[in-house]
Amino acid sequence: WPDGTRLDGSDLVIGGVPASRLAAQFGTPCQVLDETTVRTRAREFLKALPEAEVVFAGKSLPCPEVYRWMAAEGLSLDVSSAGELALARAADFPAARIVMHGNVKTGEDLKAALAYGVSRIVVDSFDEIAQLGALARHGQQVVVRVTPGVDAHTHAAIATGVEDQKFGFSLASGAALEAVLRVVEQPSLRLVGLHCHIGSQVRHVAAYEETVRRMVGLIAGCGVRIEQLDLGGGFCAPYLPGESSFDLAGFAHRVRVALNYECAVHRVPVPRVLVEPGRSVVANAGVTLYRVCAVKRGTTRTFVAVDGGMSDNPRPALYGAKYAVRLVGRGGRMAPVTVVGRHCEAGDVLASDVVLPADVHAGDLLAVPATGAYHHALASNYNQVGRPPVVAVHDGTARLVVRRETEEDLLRRYV
Ligand code: LLP
Repeated sequence: WPDGTRLDGSDLVIGGVPASRLAAQFGTPCQVLDETTVRTRAREFLKALPEAEVVFAGKSLPCPEVYRWMAAEGLSLDVSSAGELALARAADFPAARIVMHGNVKTGEDLKAALAYGVSRIVVDSFDEIAQLGALARHGQQVVVRVTPGVDAHTHAAIATGVEDQKFGFSLASGAALEAVLRVVEQPSLRLVGLHCHIGSQVRHVAAYEETVRRMVGLIAGCGVRIEQLDLGGGFCAPYLPGESSFDLAGFAHRVRVALNYECAVHRVPVPRVLVEPGRSVVANAGVTLYRVCAVKRGTTRTFVAVDGGMSDNPRPALYGAKYAVRLVGRGGRMAPVTVVGRHCEAGDVLASDVVLPADVHAGDLLAVPATGAYHHALASNYNQVGRPPVVAVHDGTARLVVRRETEEDLLRRYV
């Protein structure tokens, strides 16, 4: 839950605003985002890693207002397409603090990045190095994405550090070194750093420590001055009661020690570290509100069907993600239920094996916490359902930062 979330009677108060009021004013489903929690998490990164550049992974919650908060807090921003860059531009995000990522950047993506003057472009293939070399004017700063071969022990769909996958240049095969040399050969490009991102929802600090060791080994082997070492993001966030947050202090300490030690051993200057948190900054700031539309008492289970589903939260279907659910406005005897969505698939399950008051019925309001990261970002229009709004709450006030998608919006694309 967002910091400071409390009960007022049986209503849930988020950022000082009762959930019942948010549902009445903005409708459901509705994604509520607590600004204070987002800013607090961002500051925690800056405080834990004062020597590092903290880059918000904009893909986790693409929204100009959120990018503005990050700019104001002093974070940098990672974008991975011309579309995310357009949001950054709408937020007047300083180009000097933007990094562009992606294993595929189309010509349009690269041209948009160059036109806005994003400070660094992370290259991810030999084709891209050649293409960017031809498009860029003199001195475009470039970072090479490396696959360090580290297993972050997370879901296969979001494990990006292991060998044999689409991201980065393999360290083990020598492709990473070759990529460094290719960038150096391009007169229009200036190599400033190496990047890696071992995965998402990573719990173990040891995986980052091992990554630092391998990356410094590469820095020592390349014979070129590497000013920046971007360790990516992936820091886990708690989704269920009892799960812990990422050990940020432990991470900061162990990465610092490993970096200094390895650089001393290899006799290379210590590069500036970058980290790219997304989920750990915004996940716990978000709460999704749904209205119960129907309750079906099946032969073995009770299904509680709501007015959203896999179009606003595909994470259970994609990653087997688990969520907690709370009924707003009433307590009482609890019973196990399965919360399902409105979409035309049996797999459209938001949460199984959760407990809600036994008399849960149509019209009830449900709140699902930990929905700030990769929810608005992954939302779709499946079944032509408009995507929910994002409502920012702060000190007792609520304001729309993304409006609800209407039928008009949906119709606009059809010819
Ligand atoms: N840096 C790079 C290059 C990335 O690709 C990502 C996320 C991040 C940083 C931020 O990772 P975070 O700190 O948020 O874990 N849709 C999936 C997550 C995909 C992550 C994509 N890359 C999910 O909902 O779990």
